[in-house]
Amino acid sequence: MTAQIIDGKAIAEQVRGEWKKRADALKAQGVLPGLAVIIVGDNPASKVYVRNKVRACHDVGLHSEVHELPADITEAMLLKQIQDLNANPDIHGILVQLPLPDHISDDKVLETIDVEKDVDGFHLYNLGALVAGNTVFPPCTPYGVQCLIEHTNIPIEGQNAVVVGRSNIVGKPMALMLLHKGATVSICTSKTRDLAFYTRLADILVVAVGRPGLITADMVKEGAAVLDVGINRTDEGKLVGDVDFESVKEKAGHITPVPGGVGPMTISMLVANTVLAAERLSG
Ligand code: GUN
Repeated sequence: MTAQIIDGKAIAEQVRGEWKKRADALKAQGVLPGLAVIIVGDNPASKVYVRNKVRACHDVGLHSEVHELPADITEAMLLKQIQDLNANPDIHGILVQLPLPDHISDDKVLETIDVEKDVDGFHLYNLGALVAGNTVFPPCTPYGVQCLIEHTNIPIEGQNAVVVGRSNIVGKPMALMLLHKGATVSICTSKTRDLAFYTRLADILVVAVGRPGLITADMVKEGAAVLDVGINRTDEGKLVGDVDFESVKEKAGHITPVPGGVGPMTISMLVANTVLAAERLSG
């Protein structure tokens, strides 16, 4: 079998178009959805991610602003900046780009963001709501993966789903989302003994570990849907996922490429959450 390659770029554009209509409806009522992005220090990868997020907001006609703060900013000053944005009625979504410098507590920062403006869905309240199955702002990357699965009409209910990766940003929320959609979910990590035993059971395999080539064709069930969240740069400067794309595409039923798979979706879901936040705050 040769897999259908899931065109994340095209689906992301379609999703963005749907949310643009909702943003336009808000603008007609005098509400311009606004996103504030805080970036601390000058991590080059973070800068690229932030630039892409701002560009997506611009494309959909949202207001966005970037607050670039020095790496040696105190935690107290960063928290004050977030509190100011919480109180700013022109800002509906607040995102603090991770990672933060070591002297700043991620937890404190994320919990200072107003839950109604938490468009990343990283606040403990929103993570708790996700566990309970009634989250308002699903974390953007797993939300994007779910959206890709649904747009491709891949069934979830009753299927075996295996998530490789257990981060708070991707693995854990992804597993919960698939569980809520009726899948039987296993969560594995890069340390799982006999990882292939689990991955071969998967009708839906989501991989988010950050290890190039971790998943090879022999680890995949014939016809499975394989969603690759990994973004790794090889020594030659090429972007690759966690899945050995060339071999796995000959066995899977569906597969996402890297780049052009999950990445563009993450950004569209940020747009979605920002417009939704504006609807909720202005409604
Ligand atoms: N760093 C890597 N991915 C993300 C993300 O989705 N949101 C934020 N805020 N930081 C990140």
